[in-house]
Amino acid sequence: MEKKNIDWANLGFGYMKTDKRFVSNYKNGAWDEGVLTEDDTITISECAGVLQYAQTIFEGLKAYTTEKGQIVIFRPDLNAERLEQSAQRLEMPVYPKDKFVEAVAATVKANDAYVPPYGTGATLYIRPYMFGSNPVIGVKPADEYQFRVFTTPVGPYFKGGIKPLTIKISDFDRAAPHGTGHIKAGLNYAMSLHAIVTAHKEGFDENMYLDPATRTKVEETGGANFLFVTKDNKIVVPKSPSILPSITRRSLVYVAENYLGLEVEEREVFLSEVKDFAEAGLCGTAAVISPVGKIVDHGKEICFPSGMDSMGPITKKLYDTLTGIQMGRLEAPEGWIKVIE
Ligand code: PLP
Ligand code: COI
Repeated sequence: MEKKNIDWANLGFGYMKTDKRFVSNYKNGAWDEGVLTEDDTITISECAGVLQYAQTIFEGLKAYTTEKGQIVIFRPDLNAERLEQSAQRLEMPVYPKDKFVEAVAATVKANDAYVPPYGTGATLYIRPYMFGSNPVIGVKPADEYQFRVFTTPVGPYFKGGIKPLTIKISDFDRAAPHGTGHIKAGLNYAMSLHAIVTAHKEGFDENMYLDPATRTKVEETGGANFLFVTKDNKIVVPKSPSILPSITRRSLVYVAENYLGLEVEEREVFLSEVKDFAEAGLCGTAAVISPVGKIVDHGKEICFPSGMDSMGPITKKLYDTLTGIQMGRLEAPEGWIKVIE
């Protein structure tokens, strides 16, 4: 396969139309077989459930070219499981796990010319999603759904690559207690848009959301979980029922314990203790692990000793180990890597 003529090293995190996408429809209580199509457009009723009541969920994962030149995807089974949880919470049908993994693999294979070559720093972002497609006017779930998977080659999520970020403590909430913060539903992102536009206008890279009930505990940002490092090199990750269970964060926890021999605590993290950490990072598929240099709480600055120039040493080790596994430089735990044949 001949690669597309793309300036891989200078890609940002944006959408580029690729050749094929996967589409499957749910009707009369069943999913059809699904097809790969060149058509990147969707025609639905003006009254579709997704347009009226935001009945839409999605996932995000990546395909990588390994050092040996194979194309691989990272833990797609966990994305399938999370989409299932999202579907159940929004009263949508489940797209079967094995079919999900097959659809993702088939879409990547059909767009293999867009998978960035090894060493370019770019990857192929994969976006599976599902939405209510038939007319719904009373508030109720749709009866018909569409599941789709598209791909787009991407570079780093944050401009400047791995330069430490400045984060604002937001006055807005992204989730409600007992709400939908733990699933990957479009509605969570819609309600974060005003907060992120405000933060950007004020010169911040991202928001830190606090727990909506007490506003004393760290939750996450609009698109990534937090990870902290203590001064004695322990990893601390926030635990909350209203944050998204990040697959990257869960993988980093495993890597920290099993590859780096570090102790990990998953627990409630109070804002008042953040000033005592040595390093902080944002973790997610898009963010990978992006270092945080500074958190600003209404004018009061929390500056991490790792500084504003480069990643802290433990964050760097985590980053190198995780990306080493994803790019085939390090042996992966059983079942983490699916090779696209
Ligand atoms: N938190 C939110 C709100 C996200 O949108 C994402 C992105 O997927 C994450 C965390 C990170 O999750 P993952 O590592 O599974 O990509
Ligand atoms: C991801 O990391 O996959 C995300 O979905 C984050 C963001 C682009 C919404």
